[in-house]
Amino acid sequence: TLALGLVTVGGYLLGSIPFGLVLTRLAGYGDIRKIGSGNIGATNVLRTGNKPLALATLLLDSGKGAIAVGLAWWLGGSVLAAIAGGAAFLGHCFPVWLKFKGGKGVATFLGTLLALAWPVGLACCGTWAITAAISRISSLSALVAAALGPVFAYLLAGQEQAWMALFCAVLIFIRHRPNIERLFAGTEPKIGAGKNKA
Ligand code: G3P
Repeated sequence: TLALGLVTVGGYLLGSIPFGLVLTRLAGYGDIRKIGSGNIGATNVLRTGNKPLALATLLLDSGKGAIAVGLAWWLGGSVLAAIAGGAAFLGHCFPVWLKFKGGKGVATFLGTLLALAWPVGLACCGTWAITAAISRISSLSALVAAALGPVFAYLLAGQEQAWMALFCAVLIFIRHRPNIERLFAGTEPKIGAGKNKA
């Protein structure tokens, strides 16, 4: 139970670091929440027009999930690792520092999965990439990858990974509600298109 508490709180705190917000502010773009979709993730950081900054956000937001998983795994195995991944994901989506108004969890989900069960993570990243190559829409790619995540995890990994992926997938859909509305309305912007718009 001590390990469980440590892993849950530690995972949440790691996940709650809003790298997109910090990096855009440091780079002098102001508050990312006032740009584009208002999201703190890499897709929206790209709307500043700064590609390296968006890439750094992607790597750091996924990296924090992977590190949470790695530390928990070292501490107590794959079930704890899956819990730490879920906690980091929650931290990103609902960070205490931003009055619980955080991101949509996609990068953190992918990083967590890569560390938890790399074939599952790879399958999800591949799904994202293929959907993005066809549609050029980040949110749609995320939704397809999230929906298939639990299926990949069930097929390629174990129960704890599948439950973790299902938990994240449900939350990713909930967090993408405005995106889903724009997708149905046909107004969701393409990746990198229309600086400062969403
Ligand atoms: O990862 C978030 C992405 O799926 C959508 O981001 O800024 O277009 O709402 P955004």
